[in-house]
Amino acid sequence: MARRLWKRKLPAREEKQYKEKRKLESAVFDVKTLQLLSNFIKKKIVKSIDYPMATGKEADVFRASTETGYLAVKIYRIETSNFLKMQDYMLGDPRFSNMKKNKWDVVFAWTKKEFRNLSLFEEFGINAPRPIAFKKNVLIMDFIGEEGVPDSTLKQMGTETPEKTLESLLGFVKKLYKNSLVHADLSEYNILMHMGEPYIIDVGQAVLLNHPKAEEFLERDVRTLLKYFKNHGVTKDEGEVLKWVRDRGEVTLT
Ligand SMILES: Nc1ncnc2c1ncn2[C@@H]1O[C@H](COP(=O)(O)OP(=O)(O)OP(=O)(O)O)[C@@H](O)[C@H]1O
Ligand SMILES: [Mg+2]
Repeated sequence: MARRLWKRKLPAREEKQYKEKRKLESAVFDVKTLQLLSNFIKKKIVKSIDYPMATGKEADVFRASTETGYLAVKIYRIETSNFLKMQDYMLGDPRFSNMKKNKWDVVFAWTKKEFRNLSLFEEFGINAPRPIAFKKNVLIMDFIGEEGVPDSTLKQMGTETPEKTLESLLGFVKKLYKNSLVHADLSEYNILMHMGEPYIIDVGQAVLLNHPKAEEFLERDVRTLLKYFKNHGVTKDEGEVLKWVRDRGEVTLT
């Protein structure tokens, strides 16, 4: 197809082709990503990529089918990712200390970080999607949904049992902290409600406690959760909750 020259009027058919090409270019599947997906299909990890469940600035999340059910495929965008911010969240993390500095490497390291963090969540018994595989900027994990329909976020569907949901979530925050991890972007947007239980997602930015801002992130996570639940009728004191989270013993929260 002819390259568009400045202000040159294209014949109708070419104009249509040009627009379609632009649409395709802005879609998530560039050639490299297509190759990665085709490898996952060859390896029979997934059978097909079905449809986008969410599209964002940093990543797009697709439902995929397997022989027996569904998986979620998260594809990080290289061009629009805020890789400077990503680097900030990898500070002091020995898992990524000798990382190279270009955009691609940062996004690939981030994808790996989300995979590893999901593995830690699984190890600690925290409700989150089980990690399945990753390569470069593509992460495959358990699909959180029922009969092929993805579950909604806490923000979208709320909870009928706010007290119990908050208790579970704070339990997760404490367990993570006890194992030297802080989610660092915990909010009603990153919690899916699955069969009445909260599941934590979007764990790429979770940091180890040796991150210089780990304690600040913990405070922000707790504050965000308490604010949401306060608006839904459950009030807890931030200071007390933080004290309870930081206490490495098994004290019950009242
Ligand atoms: N494992 C999953 N199962 C079902 N739906 C999912 C899953 N992971 C993500 N989703 C859907 O995709 C949406 C976006 O996911 P997520 O929060 O991980 O990405 P994001 O916010 O775009 O990430 P980023 O922080 O990179 O912008 C979620 O709100 C949810 O609707
Ligand atoms: Mg999110």
